[in-house]
Amino acid sequence: MIEQLKLARRSAGWSQRTLAARIGVDAQTIKRLENGVGSMPTLITVMAALDFRMTGLGPGKTLAEQLHRRRRKRYMSLDEAGLRAGLSRATVASLERGGGTVASFLRLLAVIAPGARRRAVERSYWGQGDKDDRDSRFTPPDFMAHIYSAFGKIALDPCGHHLSPVVAERRILLNEGGDGLVDEWSGTTVFVNPPFSELLKWLRRAYLEWQSGRVKTVICLVPVRTDSAWFHDTLSPDADIYLLRGRVRFIDPRGKGQHTPFSLMILTLGASAKQKSRLATKMPGFWMVRSDATAEAVEDRCPNN
Ligand SMILES: C[S@@+](CC[C@H](N)C(=O)[O-])C[C@H]1O[C@@H](n2cnc3c(N)ncnc32)[C@H](O)[C@@H]1O
Repeated sequence: MIEQLKLARRSAGWSQRTLAARIGVDAQTIKRLENGVGSMPTLITVMAALDFRMTGLGPGKTLAEQLHRRRRKRYMSLDEAGLRAGLSRATVASLERGGGTVASFLRLLAVIAPGARRRAVERSYWGQGDKDDRDSRFTPPDFMAHIYSAFGKIALDPCGHHLSPVVAERRILLNEGGDGLVDEWSGTTVFVNPPFSELLKWLRRAYLEWQSGRVKTVICLVPVRTDSAWFHDTLSPDADIYLLRGRVRFIDPRGKGQHTPFSLMILTLGASAKQKSRLATKMPGFWMVRSDATAEAVEDRCPNN
């Protein structure tokens, strides 16, 4: 598992130092972690930063919960799991609360889930080309014209690009040292056409920034990928989804147009009923209808609707 974590960091193109800076620890902490030494809270933070999720454990939203459910599924008591892993009952209990050390976690894992491994990572589906190139597909001006006219001015593009035609009052640009996954979001309306190879990371960020109240409305232009538990459990109850008819012709960094080889949706958080109906008059597609129970829960949370 530690080897897979190391691989995940490398395939993200991050050095130990970059990863350390992203999560606010020193490079030594990452080095130790990659030797199996460190605390569980650090490991959990690193896993989140790398979007490293595991399969082969039990169900649950946190690693601790997944460990707990896995042990129970194997009908092992705390004592038995501890005995077999050479750990105390208290240590197993602490791991199942998100505490403890990486070394004891690895020992417990070897006993209760020896086949656990990293869940397969998302693919961008853009086809050939290197990752940076595939992730740099800009939203065309005609598409954006409909977005402006439905939602008004865009205050922030958190994953902007200096060649992108998206007009926003503020853009977070990698080439200016910005990082839309880390820098604070601000403004009324945010437009997010993220690197699709890191889709979930961006949707998570969008959700957190919207939930915090720092931004009022978030509009995400993303592939229709709805397979993750997080999408179903956390995001979809609060999001409105517009399924687009046809495909969007994005613009690559050389200025050439290219249609997506996959379907797209516009996912909004905090959009008003007026904005949504204006969008429907501009672009072919339809808003997904929610069940009454979900709609009521959303109304409670978004009184502006
Ligand atoms: C699909 S493009 C979209 C650009 C623009 N938002 C648009 O719609 O035209 C995604 C862009 O996100 C940028 N990007 C990738 N990671 C980023 C990060 N951590 N912070 C800010 N921008 C990032 C890349 O440079 C890439 O050009």
